[in-house]
This record gives sequence, C-alpha cells and structure tokens, in this order.
Amino acid sequence: MAGFNSVDRDLRRRAEAVIPGGMYGHQSVALLPDDYPQFFASGDGAWITDVDGRRYLDFMCAYGPSLFGYAHPEIDAAYVRRLGQGDALTGPSALMVELAEAMVGMVSHADWAMFCKNGTDATTMAMMASRAQTGRKTIVLARGAYHGAAPWCTPRPGGTTAEDKANQVFCAYNDIASLEAAVARAGDDLAAIFAAPFRHDAFVDQAAPDPAYARRARELADERGAMLVVDDVRAGLRVVRDCSWEAIGVRPDLSTWGKCIANGHPISALLGSDSARTGAASIYVTGSFWYAGAAMAAALETLKLVRDTDYLERMQGLGERLRAGLAERAAVAGFGFRQTGPATMPLFLFDDDPDLRKGFCWSSAMLARGVYVHPWHNMFLCAAMTDADIDFALDAAEQSFQTLGTQANDLPPVEKLAFLTAR
Ligand SMILES: Cc1ncc(COP(=O)(O)O)c(C=O)c1O
Repeated sequence: MAGFNSVDRDLRRRAEAVIPGGMYGHQSVALLPDDYPQFFASGDGAWITDVDGRRYLDFMCAYGPSLFGYAHPEIDAAYVRRLGQGDALTGPSALMVELAEAMVGMVSHADWAMFCKNGTDATTMAMMASRAQTGRKTIVLARGAYHGAAPWCTPRPGGTTAEDKANQVFCAYNDIASLEAAVARAGDDLAAIFAAPFRHDAFVDQAAPDPAYARRARELADERGAMLVVDDVRAGLRVVRDCSWEAIGVRPDLSTWGKCIANGHPISALLGSDSARTGAASIYVTGSFWYAGAAMAAALETLKLVRDTDYLERMQGLGERLRAGLAERAAVAGFGFRQTGPATMPLFLFDDDPDLRKGFCWSSAMLARGVYVHPWHNMFLCAAMTDADIDFALDAAEQSFQTLGTQANDLPPVEKLAFLTAR
C-alpha cells in the first residue's frame, strides 16, 4: 500500500483483527495492485471517494449496481419515502405486485417475477425452479462462468463438498459441439441449461454470444423438455431494455436479475415464462428481507428511468468514444491493448502480459490520475458519466500509457497473480 492512504491502511489493520482475512469476496482488493484502496467514504454520480479523500472516476460502478450513478436523487428519494412508511413488514406491500408487473412488462419472455436479495438467490432459485419443473437434477453450465457464491456455484472450493456440485455438467461457452456433448452426458436427466448473456469471465477476453450457440441451447432445451436460463445478473439493462438474449432473438424460460435493477438498493429477481411457472410455484424459497418495500420502490423508480430516458444509448455512445479513444492512444504508445465486451461493460487486457504486469502498471497509473479501472474484471459504465468524464479518462490513459512505456521492460512479476501463469 502506498504511503498516502493512511486511513485505508489503518482500517485494513483493524479489519485484520475483526474480519476474517481482513476482507472477503469480490470486493477484496487482495488481487489488485497494492495501491488500490480497500475502503471508500462515499459515491456521487460517476465518482467515488476513498477513505483518504481521493476521488476517482469509477469504472466499476460497485461491480454493476450503479446504473444511474451513486446517490441518485429520485431513486434514493423513493427509497427513503418508503422507509418512512415501514420497510420490512409482516407482509409485502402493493409495491411487490407493481414491481412484478413492471418487470414482466419490460422483459419479453417473462410472465411472472419472484423477488429476492442477491444475484445468487436468483440463480439458486432458477436452478431449483428448473429441477422442480422438470423433475430432473442435472444442469449444464459453461466452464468458468460465474453464477454466484452459494456452495453449488462458488468458484473456490473452500468449505464446499463434491456433493454440493453434484449433478452439474460443463461445456465451453460458444462451442456448440461442447454444448451438445454436455447435454448428451446429462442424458434424460437434463433440468436446465444455464447461460451467461455473453462470456464475461474474469482474466480472459470477453466474447459476444454466438447466435448459433444461443439458438442451439434453446433447441436442445426444447428437445429435452428442459429449461433455458439466462443469467442477466451482471449484464441486465446494460445491453438492452429486456433480457440480453432478446438482442439475438433467443428467449429463455427463466432469467435472473440483480445488481442494478434498483440502482444499488438490495433486490434481485427471478423472471420466468409460463413454461416454468408450476415449478417456480412449488419451491420453498424466502428470506427475512425479501419483501421489504424500500428497495422495491427504488427498483420501480429505476425502471421508470430505464423506460423513459435514453440512458442506454448515451452509455453506449460514451462507451464507444472511450473505446475508440483508448485504441488510438494505445496504438500511438505502441501497445497491443485488447478491449472486449459490450462498450458499456468493457474489459482491458494487454498483449504479451501473462501475469498482468503491464495491466497492473497501467491501472495503477490510471488510479494515480483519478480513474478507477480494473486490471482483470469487466468494468461498467453508468448513465451519470459525461463526455467530460470520458475526456478525463482518455487524458489519464494517454499519460498512463506513457508511464507504462517508460517502465514496461523492467516491471517485476506480479506475484499475487502467479497462478495465471502456472495454470
Ligand atoms: C452473472 C452473475 N450471476 C450471479 C451473480 C451473483 O450475484 P450476487 O453477488 O448479487 O449474489 C453475479 C455477481 O457478480 C454475476 O455476475
């Protein structure tokens, strides 16, 4: 950790004593460059401020939840208004029905909605609903795709058993032959095929879905009487105002939502078509806070902005400008710099950078200039970003490519990512 972030350093020291490992999960900075702050004080619009008072243009958007910007006045006002009327009550408020109607109205394949808190709740419910609907056990998943952190799907083995991951067969994303082989292996026990809307795995280039792969997944599910599930927890509302595979003409039976549907307030959803309604109605799933009204009020306000504004087209325009500007600056500096994924959810990787030492150096240089980028995870744009923000990021990028240019030949190995080169 750099010397300037002394409040952060102190909080980390205290956290070591009272939080196992000091921090856990996707927001741990253990695998980020050493100068990345762990703790933040606030967010406003597209910017975040760390506990040492340093401000950054934030290309992570809380790992997705911030779609219209932090502390959005109308969305947060709706949330606070509902708090004044009671949040978690003995039963749901009318907001639950209104929100189900709004989501069903927005997402073409959906005939019904169930609400929960985290994306993992929604993906777990999708698995259970599929099994209940079909009376079968096996699910087909793409290797390396993230669907949450419950024992059945968490990417790390600690605390899980082989039984937790039973009844799963893996295929390679976008590889039709591999998908067909996985479905064949599931035999007559196939309950569901899970799909990310595009490949957004960490550490590797992102890939758009091959429409032929998506169509084949739909066909195979139909042939086998199984469910097709699109996990839109991460990409939802940043690709289209619908389920993301609607853009390529493929409709799932179930889709999972979370992260940004209430602009950062805690709520997620499982949406389904009538083909999955009986199964969904039969599973027992619940949580103390699942029916609380405030996040539902925030979601309704968020969906109103989704419907009534050009937020998506603006974000796409900003993303395209960022992409073109970065490509130009990287080329001038002489770096092979790969930008993959939708323009609203970019991932940056350098050529010839197996342990990401160039990526770490460039990202640290961006951070020092007030731009928070991630060296190996996809990023997120938000609708609070402006043309001036993109200009700011491009200026920082130009200088950061120069910084990298002066250091590229002498960069030390990134020890904490040694596993990337060992695999
Ligand atoms: C595609 C996808 N599915 C599921 C999840 C799990 O969501 P949550 O972290 O809210 O449980 C995530 C979270 O990053 C995700 O990206």
